[in-house]
Amino acid sequence: MKAILLAGGKGTRLRPLTIHTPKPIVPIFGRPFLHYQIDLLRQLPDVDEVILSLNYQPRRIEEMFGHGDGLGVRLSYVVEPAPLGTAGAVRYAGQALEETVIVFNGDVMTQVDLAAVVRLHRERKAKATIVLTPVENPTAYGLVETDAESNVRRFLEKPKPEEITCNTINAGIYVLEPDTFDRIPKETAWSIERSYFPSLVERGETFVAYVYDGYWIDIGTPEKYVQVHRDIMTRRFAAPPFASAPPDCRLVSPAARIEDGATIEGPCFVDEGVYVKPGARIAPYSVLGRQCVVEEDARVEGSIVWANGRIGRDALVRDSILGRHCHVGRNAVLDGGIVLGDKSVVTDYSRL
Ligand code: GDD
Ligand code: MG
Repeated sequence: MKAILLAGGKGTRLRPLTIHTPKPIVPIFGRPFLHYQIDLLRQLPDVDEVILSLNYQPRRIEEMFGHGDGLGVRLSYVVEPAPLGTAGAVRYAGQALEETVIVFNGDVMTQVDLAAVVRLHRERKAKATIVLTPVENPTAYGLVETDAESNVRRFLEKPKPEEITCNTINAGIYVLEPDTFDRIPKETAWSIERSYFPSLVERGETFVAYVYDGYWIDIGTPEKYVQVHRDIMTRRFAAPPFASAPPDCRLVSPAARIEDGATIEGPCFVDEGVYVKPGARIAPYSVLGRQCVVEEDARVEGSIVWANGRIGRDALVRDSILGRHCHVGRNAVLDGGIVLGDKSVVTDYSRL
């Protein structure tokens, strides 16, 4: 069985972080996000190949993952000449496929039991099976109405508040039969959410829902990107590197240098090569990427700092995300919801 990972979006809502780092490889505790999806797909022994459907900065991703050596699954890459939309991308990547295929949005993190989803698909002899998850506010997602037999009755992408009729949304994980792909036009962009799924309902084809109410998140916004780190650190979502760590664990690399007089409070993650100077304080829910330097009396709190950051003396970085190679000057304050792109420089005493 093959899986197609839709990873061709531009990641606009995660800008400026995604300007030099496409969303599938944004680091989660220094580990490219795609690893977490591959971990999930590996649950299914009959998935022998993951096809990455790419468009934005494909070479960066290909160079990082290659053929998947050491990942336990073969990887291949399909690069669209131009973005074809989610359905166009599936058709383009799956044109040679004849067997049932799993399709995944490239930005969701979950523990859903994929084997159970495939089983349901086969039992119901479905043309398509979709994983749904309940959320409080469906407006940012695809709203999916079902009947008592778990058949999908309606698919409404990004509903307006007055259009919300239920709380189950598209979790971005599907099992599809390739004999339905011929309705997808080859040359124009076509959306799986706005056109392909509604077409299954209109034609009365067997389109089944699998409702999953365990851990699920779309990492596509800065708030969710921070949230996923917290969920892993608190083990609300059991995943590396905190899967078997004790509560409030300080995961500090043995190759980090923490000077006497510095304070490190868990849960937090300090990667290799980090240097924390005396008087500095790393407060809970902080993540310091490789080779970051935190100068004397600086404080990092609830923030994610990608590799090679430098936080100046007496600076405060709270509830923010800093891309690679950012430099925060002395006494600067970044307080709440600040997102800095790679190589940003915040001058001494600035307040953001
Ligand atoms: N190859 C390719 N080509 N991939 C694409 C394209 C394209 O033209 N457009 C989007 N993608 C990929 C993105 O990289 C992402 O992994 C996935 O398709 C979904 O796109 P998003 O831009 O993240 O969509 P969304 O989050 O607004 O909504 C989607 O996900 C929700 C769940 O997180 C929809 O599927 C909603 O229905 C769903 O609820
Ligand atoms: Mg998304």
